[in-house]
Amino acid sequence: MDKKKLIEELNKEIFNCNRCPLYLSKTNYVPGDGNPESNILFIGEAPGREEDIKGKPFVGKAGKILEENINKILNLDREKVFITNVIKCRPPNNRDPKEEEIKSCSIWLIKQLEIIKPSLIITLGNHSTKFIFEYFGLKFESIMKHRGKVYEVKKWDKIVKIIPTIHPASTLYHKDWRDLFDKDFYEIKKNIENENESSGILKYIK
Ligand code: URA
Repeated sequence: MDKKKLIEELNKEIFNCNRCPLYLSKTNYVPGDGNPESNILFIGEAPGREEDIKGKPFVGKAGKILEENINKILNLDREKVFITNVIKCRPPNNRDPKEEEIKSCSIWLIKQLEIIKPSLIITLGNHSTKFIFEYFGLKFESIMKHRGKVYEVKKWDKIVKIIPTIHPASTLYHKDWRDLFDKDFYEIKKNIENENESSGILKYIK
């Protein structure tokens, strides 16, 4: 089965999830969207209000910032990459996800990882960076320590790069952090270009 079909099948399972109480208060499940054939995976924290209403990740204010950088710095459309979150249902009032919610929900992210097998993972903020670092056996300290750096792990018979950056929503509260977010995207761009050049094919962009 191709990756698109596998993601559709997985979404059917996610739409029936009752592994934690967040499914009771959500409007829609937000499994993630984009191109599962892409080698680039963005991972955020959890759906907010807009995402909960639309059932799509990053469609509110933070999404606008993320999309702007995907468009203007990476020169990509969001449909070319896959975007998801650690948590698939909105936590009430956008509170931080609880440890046990992350534990229950992460089976879906792990299944998505195993279908997509990305070559480049961009984690957005503390929660997704911590989760991905632990999943790949890296030691997580803090997002500010790891942001903008490139981490390489061996997985799926290839080198997988992980580049953490701050959460786009944080740039709304700390105006001077927008520069950090942009800077990290230039690092991401450099890695995509290097990879494409060295392999001689558009390895990341299908
Ligand atoms: N913040 C996130 O982490 N994810 C979304 O989908 C929206 C806002």
